[in-house]
Amino acid sequence: MQKILIIGNKGMLGQELVNVFKKDKDYKVIAWDREDIDIAKEKEVSKKIGFTKPNIIINAAAYNAVDKCEESKKEYEIALEINGKAPGYLAKSAKKNKAVLVHYSTDYVFDGEPEIPEPAGCSHSCASCSLHQGFQPEVGFDEMAKPSPISNYGKSKLMGEKEVAKNTKSYYIIRLSKLFGKPAIGEGAKRSFFDVMLEAGKKNKEVKAVDEETSCFTYAPDLAKKTKEIIDAKKPFGIYHIVNSNPCTWYEAVVELYRQVKMKTKIIPVSGLEFPRPAKRPFYSVLVNTKLNPMRSWKEALKEYLK
Ligand SMILES: NC(=O)c1ccc[n+]([C@@H]2O[C@H](COP(=O)([O-])OP(=O)(O)OC[C@H]3O[C@@H](n4cnc5c(N)ncnc54)[C@H](OP(=O)(O)O)[C@@H]3O)[C@@H](O)[C@H]2O)c1
Repeated sequence: MQKILIIGNKGMLGQELVNVFKKDKDYKVIAWDREDIDIAKEKEVSKKIGFTKPNIIINAAAYNAVDKCEESKKEYEIALEINGKAPGYLAKSAKKNKAVLVHYSTDYVFDGEPEIPEPAGCSHSCASCSLHQGFQPEVGFDEMAKPSPISNYGKSKLMGEKEVAKNTKSYYIIRLSKLFGKPAIGEGAKRSFFDVMLEAGKKNKEVKAVDEETSCFTYAPDLAKKTKEIIDAKKPFGIYHIVNSNPCTWYEAVVELYRQVKMKTKIIPVSGLEFPRPAKRPFYSVLVNTKLNPMRSWKEALKEYLK
C-alpha cells in the first residue's frame, strides 16, 4: 500500500484528489490543509513530513489571489513564500523521505505570446509559401516552452517550479489553467467562473464578458483522475500540461454555459479594457499537451458539473 499525503485538501482541486485516491484501496490517504501544516514554514514541513513518511506528496495548496499580490508588496511577499519557496521545502522533504512530489502550476507562467510553429522545411516566418497550405499547427505553449511571466502571481508560481526542480528529481509539475469545479471549503475559497456567471445571468438581463484570454478550462475532477493516472503509470518525471480540450475566451465560455442551462440573458463581448484589473493576464495561454492522451472537451465536463 502507498501512503499518499494530499496538502490543500480543502481547496477546489485538493478535495477532488482526496475523492479519487480514497476510492482505490491501494492508497492510504492522509489529507492536510492549513490547520495541519503551514507549507511556508520549512522546519514544520521537514518535521511533519519526516514523521508521516509518505510515499507520495501532492501539493495542491497555493496562494491564488492574482490581483491582490499585484497591488500589495506585502501580499506579493506572502505569494512568494507559499507559491515560490514552500514547494522547495516540500521537494527537499520528499527527497529526504524518498517520496515522489506532485506540484501544480499555471499557464500564467507564460507571457501570452506563443511562437507560431512553422511547417517542416520552412525556416522563415513567411506564412505564405506552399508548405503552409493545409498546415494547422496547435498554437500555444508546450511543456518545453520558455516561461516568461507578466504578473507577480505568475512569477511566484515560476519560482515554485524552479525550487521543485532544484531540490528533487522525483517530481511531477502539472500546469493547468482556468480551474472549475465544486467551490473550495477553505477560508480563502473562491467560486469558479461558471458559478459567478450563472448568478450574474439570473440577476441581470445582460452581462458583459471579456472576449480575450484564450486558454483551456480544467475540470477539477478530470485533473484529479489524470494526476492519479500519471502516478499509477509511473510516467517519466518532469513537466506535464493537463487541461480540458477546446480553448476559448471567457465570452465563448459564457455563451456555452447559458446555452447549456437555456438561459436567455444577453451576453455582450467586450475587451479586457472594460474590466481593468491590477494584474496583467496572458492574452493567449493555451497549454499544449504533448505527453498524455488528450482530455475531453470542457463543454462535456461542464455538462457533468451542471448536473
Ligand atoms: N484556480 C485556478 O483557476 C488555477 C489556475 C491555474 C493553476 N492553479 C493551481 O492549481 C492548484 C490548486 O488550486 P486551487 O484553486 O484548488 O486552490 P484553492 O482552492 O485556493 O485551495 C488551496 C488550499 O491550500 C490552502 N493553503 C494556502 N496556503 C497554505 C499554506 N501556507 N499551508 C497549507 N495550506 C495552505 C488554502 O487554505 P486557505 O483557503 O485557508 O488559504 C486552500 O485550502 C494551485 O497550485 C494553483 O496555483 C489554479
